[in-house]
Amino acid sequence: MQNNILILDFGSQYTQLIARRVRELNVYCEIHPFNKIPTDLTQYGALILSGSPFSVRENNYPRVDLTKLLSLFPTLAVCYGAQLIAQELGGRVDASNIREYGRANLTLVNKNSLLFDGISDNTQVWMSHSDTIKELPENSMLLASTKDVDNVAYSINGKTFCLQFHPEVYHTTEGSNILKNFLTKICNIDQSWTPDSFVNKTIEELKSKIGDDKVILGLSGGVDSSVAAILLHQAIGSNLHCIFVNNGLLRKNEFDGVLEQYKGMGLNIKGVDYSKEFYDQLKGVSDPEKKRKIIGRVFIESFDNESNKIKNVKWLAQGTIYPDVIESISATGGPSATIKSHHNVGGLPDFMNLKVIEPLKLLFKDEVRRVGKSLKIDKNILGRHPFPGPGLAIRILGEVDENNVKMLQEVDDIFIQGLKNEGLYDVIWQAGAMLLPVKSVGVMGDERTYEKCVALRAVESTDGMTADWVDLPYKFLQDISNKIINRVKGVNRVVYDISSKPPATIEWE
Ligand code: XMP
Repeated sequence: MQNNILILDFGSQYTQLIARRVRELNVYCEIHPFNKIPTDLTQYGALILSGSPFSVRENNYPRVDLTKLLSLFPTLAVCYGAQLIAQELGGRVDASNIREYGRANLTLVNKNSLLFDGISDNTQVWMSHSDTIKELPENSMLLASTKDVDNVAYSINGKTFCLQFHPEVYHTTEGSNILKNFLTKICNIDQSWTPDSFVNKTIEELKSKIGDDKVILGLSGGVDSSVAAILLHQAIGSNLHCIFVNNGLLRKNEFDGVLEQYKGMGLNIKGVDYSKEFYDQLKGVSDPEKKRKIIGRVFIESFDNESNKIKNVKWLAQGTIYPDVIESISATGGPSATIKSHHNVGGLPDFMNLKVIEPLKLLFKDEVRRVGKSLKIDKNILGRHPFPGPGLAIRILGEVDENNVKMLQEVDDIFIQGLKNEGLYDVIWQAGAMLLPVKSVGVMGDERTYEKCVALRAVESTDGMTADWVDLPYKFLQDISNKIINRVKGVNRVVYDISSKPPATIEWE
C-alpha cells in the first residue's frame, strides 16, 4: 500500500485545507488540478476529490474519468466531488430549494459504516452547497442525512465514500476523525509521515541527487531559507555555500546577528555587504514599484557576482514552499496556473545556468517550522516574524537613504524589543514600523519641533493573505511611543495602524 494520497482539486477554496488536515494526521498527500492528473498513479494509495465553485448542472462542468479512478483507489469525495459521482454514475443532482450553508447536524443512518466509526450521532458538520443530490447512484448505501437534506453521505461498494459536507473545515467538529477513519480504517494507510521521517528521507534524497556537486543558496535570515540550508548542510556539508547579502535594508544589527547565528550552526556562509550599491541605485526613487524592481535587480547582480567567485557550482537551492507551487483552479474559468513569483531570492534568472533544488517545496509553512524544530534550529530563527525581501525599503514611504533607514531601524528595534519584553512577540504574526513622508509640528521642552511621523503595525494572520490588527494594550503603546519620541531623533509623532487586510495591506509601501 502506498502511503501517499492524491487530492484532485476542482477549485474549492478549501482544497488546501484538506491537504493540511490529512498531513496533520501524519499522512503525506499532494494536490493536483483535476485536469492535470499525474501519469504515474501507482505512487498513490487513495484518492480525495475536492469541492468546487462549479455545478454539475452547468455546461462543461469539470469532470474526470471516474470509472478508472474509482476502480484504482479507495476514494473520499467531498461536496462537488460527491455530486459529481452521483451525477456521473446514474444518480441525480438538482438545484436545492434550501441553500444549505453553515452548520448542520448529522443523523447517522448506517451506524456500521467504518467512515463514521466512533462518530457521535447528531455531530456538527459544515455545509456549503446550493445543489443537492436527489437520487443516489446504483449500488449505493445511504450513510447519513440532516434535517434538511436526505442524501448527505453515501458509499458505493464499501470503497467510495461521498460527503455533501466538508470534513476539512474546523466547524465540522469530528471532521478530523472522519478523515482519519477513511485513511486508516478504509485505506489502511500508515500515519508515518512525521517531521523526523521527512528529514531523514529528504537528506538521503539530497545526498543521492547532488553527490559531490557544489550548491549555492541565498540566505535571508527567514525561516524557509534557514530550514532549507540546514537540511542541505546535513546532506552535503561544506559543499553547500550560503551567501547572505546585506542590502542595507535589514533590521538593526540583523546582518551581524544572523550571520553569527548561522556560523554557530556550522554553515559554510559568506556575508557580503552590498548596502552601498543598493543605496546608490535607490537614490532619488520614491515610486514603490520602482524601488522593488531596483532592489530585485541589485540583489540578482550581487548574488550572481558572489556566486561566480565560487568555482564549479552546479546547483542553486531555494526555500520555495508548497503554497508557492500548488497550481490552483480559478473559479471563473478553466484551470489556471496561479503560481506566485518568488520575491525573496527574486526568481533567479536563467543566465545563472544552474539546476534548481527546492527541498521544502512539498511543505506548508507550519510544516517547515516543525521540520526546523526536528532539525533543532534555534527558536529565535523559527519563530521570526515574516519580513519582506525588499526589507525596510517598503516601510519607508518615499525616498530611501541611509539616514532614513537608520531612523526606522531604531524605531523598529524599540517596538520589537518591547513586544519581546512583554511576551507579545510570539503571539503576534507580524509587527513592524513604517516611516511616513509626513512632518508635523510638535513641542519638546520649550522648543517647537517639525519632525517625522512613524506608524506602528502589528497583525494577526495565518498566511498574510488576510490580517487583523492586534489590540495591543494601551499602556504598552504609551510606553513604546514615549520611548520612540524620546530616543529617536527626528521623530515627534507615533500612530498605531488599526486597518485590517483587506482593504489595507500589511506593508504600507
Ligand atoms: P502585504 O503588504 O501584501 O504583505 O499585505 C503580505 C505579506 O507579504 C510580505 N511581503 C513580502 N515578503 N517579499 C517577501 O518575502 C516581498 O517582496 C514581500 N512583500 C510583502 C509582507 O511582509 C507580509 O507578511
